[in-house]
Amino acid sequence: MADTAQPINLFEFEDAAKELLPKAEYDYIAGGATDEISVDRNRRAYASWAFRPRVLRDVSKLDLSTTVLGCKVALPVLIAPCGGHKRAHPDGELATYRAAASCGTAMAVSANANTSFEDLAKAANGMLWVQLYPFRDKAMTQDWLERAKANGYKAIIVTLDSQWPPKRERNIRNRYQRSRGANYPTSGETADAPRPAGSGAGSDPAATWKDLQWIKAATRLPVVAKGIMTGEDVELCADAGADGVIVSNHGGRHLDNTLATVEVLSEAVAAAKGKIEVFLDGGIRRGADVVKAIALGAKAVFIGRPLFWGLAVGGEQGVVRVLNLLREEIEITMAKCGRPTIASIDGSTIVKVPSL
Ligand code: FNR
Repeated sequence: MADTAQPINLFEFEDAAKELLPKAEYDYIAGGATDEISVDRNRRAYASWAFRPRVLRDVSKLDLSTTVLGCKVALPVLIAPCGGHKRAHPDGELATYRAAASCGTAMAVSANANTSFEDLAKAANGMLWVQLYPFRDKAMTQDWLERAKANGYKAIIVTLDSQWPPKRERNIRNRYQRSRGANYPTSGETADAPRPAGSGAGSDPAATWKDLQWIKAATRLPVVAKGIMTGEDVELCADAGADGVIVSNHGGRHLDNTLATVEVLSEAVAAAKGKIEVFLDGGIRRGADVVKAIALGAKAVFIGRPLFWGLAVGGEQGVVRVLNLLREEIEITMAKCGRPTIASIDGSTIVKVPSL
């Protein structure tokens, strides 16, 4: 693609990816539960906050680096755990990880990744986290926790919002079938038959807080609970020993008609009381969204769908471009708000937009 034809923002990346991907794959990635109200709200809610620009604050040097669970990243945008990167590019997770590593950020590897934890760990010298569910199969969970530790992964994400399969109407219409992740055993309870697209991949519908406590006790790695949307659940995560939470509604892919993630962020941050780190995902498409989330107390954010748009358009280089576009937009926003460091992005950077 000639340089002039390069997408110049993440929306154009999605448009280009839509042209390139088979319809059913595009729909699987872009879609959400039932009426996709939460998908849309995640995105639109960022407009409920506006910046309070500040001037004459020496923004000649900007530092976008921060720490996540004690490890340094070059920018506060991480790669969300998303199943099956090969649906967008044959290099799949290897390409995404190399891109994340070259941009200095972390990638969370989905339970449903197309690539083994071991092969990924060898592909670059970056930072990997692994995502799992509260599986029925405790022996497999233990095995994954050990494999993650042995291969240098830095944290465990436990996704808690997927205990019951969602209704995704695009997938029903397209008769979409997911393939199984590469890390499941080839036989045994968890290696079950094809599941409805979007089901919890062995996530135990009977799971309770005891299962999160069990995972925390079974690993020395930090544990981050994903799919948290209320202050009550943030407190329970902290009580269960979690080191962090990801405020997430799974990109609107599980329960529809929730508030946007950015709308519940303040409630989550208040409930965390500074004891655990609070992250956010859902609808992040602009650098401005990242800065707003940080101003509301997020330690960092994750992107999901945009990584697939990057992969579809240009493999590893496409994902690099997606991350660099966000970086450039974060820089512009930080400079114009007079906030040269991530730590300087506080609540006074933004204001709730009054209705006109
Ligand atoms: C996901 N997501 C997800 N989450 C998770 O915990 N485990 C998984 O395997 C997947 N798989 C997955 C596949 C695809 C195609 C998408 C789009 C998403 C959810 C993901 O981690 C994240 O919560 C959302 O994608 C964030 O919203 P945005 O950035 O896509 O708007």
